[in-house]
Amino acid sequence: MEKKKPKEMTGAELASMLKSNIQFKSLGGMRSDDLTLPPEDKDWWRDAKIGMFIHWGVYSILGRGEWARFNEKIPKEIYEALADELIPEHFQVREWIDLAKDFGAKYTVMVARHHDGFALWNSEGSYEHFTSWHRAAHRDFVREYVDACREAGMKIGIYYSTMDWRFPGYFDPKGLPENAALMKKQCYDQVRELCSQYGPIDILWYDGSWLAHQGSDTSSAWFWEPVKLNRMARSFNPKMLINPRSGWEGDFYCDEGSHEIKGKIIPVPWEKNMCVCSGCSWGWMPDDPVSDFDWLIRMMVNVVCRGGNWLLNIAPDKNGKLSEEVTGRMRQIGVWLKTYGDSIYGTRGGPWQPVDDVYGSTWKGNTIYLHILDPKAFQREILPKLENEIEEAALFDGTAVAVEERPEGIRITLPERLTGKPEMEEPDVIVRLKMKQEVKGVEDREIYFTGKE
Ligand code: GLC
Repeated sequence: MEKKKPKEMTGAELASMLKSNIQFKSLGGMRSDDLTLPPEDKDWWRDAKIGMFIHWGVYSILGRGEWARFNEKIPKEIYEALADELIPEHFQVREWIDLAKDFGAKYTVMVARHHDGFALWNSEGSYEHFTSWHRAAHRDFVREYVDACREAGMKIGIYYSTMDWRFPGYFDPKGLPENAALMKKQCYDQVRELCSQYGPIDILWYDGSWLAHQGSDTSSAWFWEPVKLNRMARSFNPKMLINPRSGWEGDFYCDEGSHEIKGKIIPVPWEKNMCVCSGCSWGWMPDDPVSDFDWLIRMMVNVVCRGGNWLLNIAPDKNGKLSEEVTGRMRQIGVWLKTYGDSIYGTRGGPWQPVDDVYGSTWKGNTIYLHILDPKAFQREILPKLENEIEEAALFDGTAVAVEERPEGIRITLPERLTGKPEMEEPDVIVRLKMKQEVKGVEDREIYFTGKE
């Protein structure tokens, strides 16, 4: 049977379909049918919903963000000497994975090598052996990471930056092709090591494929040959999900940063990644303010009601440690997810399209979860009718909620204690609706975003 071609969409069409401020990265990637995973192979990831991202490396010593080497033009010898100070003696990677569990993550993505070139494993392919194994720490943090994840039943994601500032050829790939080729060789060798030496990897999360800090990951595909690269990666891990940032279109879309998520359900697999702190930097910065709990919960809810995954970044210091504010906030979210996780994990967005800042919905099986962000405003809303009938409506604590089916739609009346106060006490009021039949959500679509405006 001939494979159906996905619908093609430009940026303007995407924006008009979603009425959304979503900023997907790396659109218009190369395509290759043999790399496309069938939807059922992505189900575990879409059900997982919550992931934890970890940025840690030599830059964590300086505390000025992971771009410090480049932004401050730190000379190579000076920056590289720092690598011998990354010796976190009283630290085990397991501590991060324990935190990820408490936070409620079902998968983690650890930076194995960022743009500065420092590899956190025993990498033979590393140019000049700039690795945590060959330098003072003499540790393979990727090994410790995958072992800790497996022990904890955590799905394993690895972040890898294709580019590396140490190569002058990165900044001038056409003028210095031989040097650029060395960087490309390192990329292929290191991706092979990561995908073949650590057992099954669940997610390969690329970054930094744009060349000379120009264009995008996809405009540099002529250089990286991402289809070839990912065929090699998949030869070791046939079911691994791959993000779109190598220049191949990838298995899911990425939205990056702390901007709010508004608009309609996005009917494709997608993930928002952002920081638990201010988002000024992904790597450790002292006194980086931790974001407000209610704001974070509402962000997560806004993402999940629109069908996305939420990947939240932490930035440990050079000793691998996190402040109490950060661990406290992560655990606080975890406590919320312990209570309300049924309305998040394993769900899809819908069946109702969200109304920005007022409500959204998720569903699984015969249950719909209404996530109400503004109970007062919600009382004025009439929900569009469904074919399915509501059998029972209640808050998570069991309090029944009144439902009225009117000719123009459904009206749900919340208890007065939730609507009578000017200030909300809960970041998200959830009503669980038991339906007569299996819910029909907003169907996924196969869309190829061309990246054109
Ligand atoms: C951006 C930044 C990079 C960071 C990444 C996380 O690409 O340049 O430093 O690691 O976002 O998604």
